[in-house]
Amino acid sequence: MQALALFPGAREISRVERQEPALDSPDAVKLRVLQVGICGTDREEVSGGAVRPPEGLQNLVIGHEMLGLVVDAGEAVTRVKPGDYAVFTVRRGCGRCLPCARDRPDMCETGGYSERGIRGLDGYQTEYVVDREKYLVPIPPDLKETGVLTEPLSIVEKAIDSAVRVQTTRLPDALLYPDWLHDRRCLVAGLGPIGLLAALALRLRGAEVFGMDIVDTETSRPRWLAGIGGTYVDGRSLRPDKVDEALGPMELIFEASGVASLAFSLLDALAVNGVYVLTGVPEGNRKVQIPGEELMRRLVMDNQIMLGSVNAAPGHFRMAVQDLSVARLRWGSLVERLITLRLAPDASGDIFHEHGTDEIKVVIQWDGA
Ligand code: BGC
Repeated sequence: MQALALFPGAREISRVERQEPALDSPDAVKLRVLQVGICGTDREEVSGGAVRPPEGLQNLVIGHEMLGLVVDAGEAVTRVKPGDYAVFTVRRGCGRCLPCARDRPDMCETGGYSERGIRGLDGYQTEYVVDREKYLVPIPPDLKETGVLTEPLSIVEKAIDSAVRVQTTRLPDALLYPDWLHDRRCLVAGLGPIGLLAALALRLRGAEVFGMDIVDTETSRPRWLAGIGGTYVDGRSLRPDKVDEALGPMELIFEASGVASLAFSLLDALAVNGVYVLTGVPEGNRKVQIPGEELMRRLVMDNQIMLGSVNAAPGHFRMAVQDLSVARLRWGSLVERLITLRLAPDASGDIFHEHGTDEIKVVIQWDGA
């Protein structure tokens, strides 16, 4: 079968042949891949980032945001049957630490985990994939257009859930307000797919959402944000250290730009007792200058929390599925419009290098649609 793969060090995607996988255990499920999203991590790999092929192989099949159709299932599989839609999660455990033993490799302690399409395991940019049922999350048929967003949304779900859990354990009104995000002022920095999905999840929880980027207001991402009731903030005309003055302090900041200088200067906009969650992974090793003492003093004196979050557990994938369903009821086809380009696998070459301001999510269609 065909697959899109990367050789370490290469700057171009290669079309390779892989053997079609078969069920290899009673709890295995085989999916025909329908769609696979492209994200910043894929682009980073193609522009010279670390590529770790599976042991014994020369290249890595990329892709970790997928939607598939069940075509075969082992006799021990209980949650899906052929004809159902589903996605597989990304990370697999190291086999040596407690979080991995508890099926939470997203919290792996040893760093010995692997990730499909990223680290040591082939990904999903191919025709068929097989994995164990415990890594599978069923997708309802009405999400067949947006189910491919489940993985990026799972990243958001984990980050927001972690931030809210921390807040509700330490704030005195936690028991009075279990829906802590309701009416909270939240700032999302960086309106790529992760930032826009964060805005979506926060709006669904009743938050007031400001989204910051450096593009013109009349382009697709600010317009999409406005469609879900968010307010666009042009970072070119409002400096991060003026956000507080212009818009008021933010009780939650969701960082999705991966730009370290912006991330630290936005700390200025964080409210007393606020929480700041970082999800963007910077690409380089650039040094940034930060007013360290002032930031540290403020974090301490204002009871602020800065929290990093990566990857997601199956539970976060299920939360993503729920949010996609609710978002569909609330905003209809708007959610689908996050996918701005759908390409056939053999037309995908340049898209790993180039992307325009108006592009949000690019998806490779393996189903020929
Ligand atoms: C993926 C995560 C992964 C992370 C680090 C992200 O693009 O969505 O699943 O853990 O990259 O490799």
